[in-house]
Amino acid sequence: MCGIFAYLNYHVPRSRREILEILLKGLQRLEYRGYDSAGVGIDGGNNKDWESNAKSIHLIKQRGKVKVLDEEINKQQDIDLDVEFDVHLGIAHTRWATHGVPSPVNSHPQRSDKHNEFIVIHNGIITNYKDLRKFLESKGYEFESETDTETIAKLVKYMYDNRENNDISFATLVEQVTQQLEGAFALVFKSIHFPGEAVGTRRGSPMLIGVKSDHKLSTDHIPVLYRSSGKDKKSCTTLPRMDQDTCLFPVDEKAVEYYFASDASAVIEHTNRVIFLEDDDIAAVTEGRLSIHRIKRTAGDHPARAIQTLQMELQQIMKGNFSSFMQKEIFEQPESVVNTMRGRVNFDDNTVTLGGLKDHIKEIQRCRRLILIACGTSYHAGVATRQVLEELTELPVMVELASDFLDRNTPVFRDDVCFFISQSGARNMCSYVDCFSVLFIYLFLNNVFCCLYPGETADSLLALRYCKEQGALTVGITNTVGSSISRETDCGVHINAGPEIGVASTKAYSSQFVALIMFALLMCDDRISMQPRRREIIQGLRVLPDLIKEVLSLDEEIQKLAAELYQQKSVLIMGRGYHYATCLEGALKIKEITYMHSEGILAGELKHGPLALIDKLMPVIMIIMRDHTYIKCQNALQQVVARQGRPIVICDKDDYETIKNSSRTIKVPHCVDCLQGILSVIPLQLLSFHLAVLRGYDVDCPRNLAKSVTVE
Ligand code: F6R
Repeated sequence: MCGIFAYLNYHVPRSRREILEILLKGLQRLEYRGYDSAGVGIDGGNNKDWESNAKSIHLIKQRGKVKVLDEEINKQQDIDLDVEFDVHLGIAHTRWATHGVPSPVNSHPQRSDKHNEFIVIHNGIITNYKDLRKFLESKGYEFESETDTETIAKLVKYMYDNRENNDISFATLVEQVTQQLEGAFALVFKSIHFPGEAVGTRRGSPMLIGVKSDHKLSTDHIPVLYRSSGKDKKSCTTLPRMDQDTCLFPVDEKAVEYYFASDASAVIEHTNRVIFLEDDDIAAVTEGRLSIHRIKRTAGDHPARAIQTLQMELQQIMKGNFSSFMQKEIFEQPESVVNTMRGRVNFDDNTVTLGGLKDHIKEIQRCRRLILIACGTSYHAGVATRQVLEELTELPVMVELASDFLDRNTPVFRDDVCFFISQSGARNMCSYVDCFSVLFIYLFLNNVFCCLYPGETADSLLALRYCKEQGALTVGITNTVGSSISRETDCGVHINAGPEIGVASTKAYSSQFVALIMFALLMCDDRISMQPRRREIIQGLRVLPDLIKEVLSLDEEIQKLAAELYQQKSVLIMGRGYHYATCLEGALKIKEITYMHSEGILAGELKHGPLALIDKLMPVIMIIMRDHTYIKCQNALQQVVARQGRPIVICDKDDYETIKNSSRTIKVPHCVDCLQGILSVIPLQLLSFHLAVLRGYDVDCPRNLAKSVTVE
């Protein structure tokens, strides 16, 4: 799980200092994808002409965040930062370790040999790297790192050294390499043998290319070139002709800049024109021209890649007055849930329209069961809405953790409908906090940008592919237009929560929750018997944003509570029914950002074990709302109190009985039962935030975690 970024300037003179600044900024934007080490690879020479400078490659790599790399760059003696390059490719990487501990030698770029003939940056995992490494070692290659990526760098050199045709192109070499790789990857290559050229490719990991030129571009889409036969050895050495019609380039001038990146956040301050690569595309820039080829055409392939214009508003990616992105995102929820409902819920005639499902809703209504599949917080959104889905659809609903679902080879049938809930595709504070220079803010103030591209939750994506293979209809509930889940599902709902940068998911949860409720409402819109309940829920949705605001006004009170709790080791959170998910989600938030132990407990299970944990010292939070589980929750409260527990109770503000019987309460407004879980989770989001701040932790970048979990 890593961020990759590469910058190629073609006839746009740039000093080495400027190039490094661009690379570092790109990495800062991508730090949410991993931040245990970082590195750059640039041309090494200090001469006047770029071509002789490109005869050597200089690598700078460091353990730690990008700012540590920045410090290391400033210590470099061998490179003159003022040397100007008319043409140059720099590649850069921010890492979250999968193979090999975080260290400079395990950081990327990885290299082919000590002369740095080929270097590569990689996001993903190569599953057959051990076999490849064994093969390469048998050919005399000496490995220096523990990474899977180093095999790629050495393999490309092996291909080059053993080429049959001296004119072999860089793209062809990379193609030969990718044919040997198994697993997931997004890669960018640089080589002293191909000065000023870049080759990028992907399979299962995201990659896009930004293009910037003051001049009109030759095309608004790049036709994909195919080889006639990938198996024919001869045809593997030469690519189809890359000419005017098959390349992207500026028409009036040569000057052009390209940015390869894991997502658009790293590119957007330079350009909003981007090309999203598909799996197995090989994109090459040669003499300033960008071409894309694939080995062979398969059914469903689109024969061209469009140059898309991205849109995103300034305030969507800025932290505003908040101390962290997580805090900002918690407070954005009154708006983000409105955005989820906008244009979809009509509060006047109590109707729901979901454009992304309209062609499939009849088929879904006929299905045999619904399976909600997700990880972490997104899974909790499934747990939270399961009951209302069962009620309104009258279908069996399974909620599955993607990893476990796959481990069990869960039986899936053609008449199942499988939902994939995934926020994916946002960045965290560390991506931004170090880099809000005056220029950056100026750029943002003068431009309206868009920056969303997939983080890909590997488990959910693999589960999706598995369900598709079984013939089930697949539905995406995503926050990322263009993400793999949104592209690979048959239909879906975009939750429109806006980018979520804090690693701990908050506003995405409430929006996923609302999206699933909207789906449930749609499923029963023609059922007469359901209309009163539908109306009740839709009117609940209408008032939800105001009720969320009311809960957020408890912030100060919750901060005080955090001050009493922050030195504790553990917090138990109990509830049942609609609020079991709140317990799980609250406990996850506390665990991941405060590093305190926390457990969400189903109150119905109390007597079956967890009650043994209760004494006067154990911090307990209980959720008691006036719904069908109220009496049972009251019983649980009594059991806890009887063991000298002194629970903090999250309850309805009008529930005088609970308020009277509890030593400490957090009073939230009342809402329709199936939406109340949104109101009960917010105090826990706020509590986890304040606990983390008081404990002195980086709220947006919790240790050992990254925003997009792109590996299994
Ligand atoms: C917790 C959190 C994670 C994610 C999980 C799934 O705060 O953010 O548990 O919910 O990694 O991610 P997505 O929703 O992107 O598939």
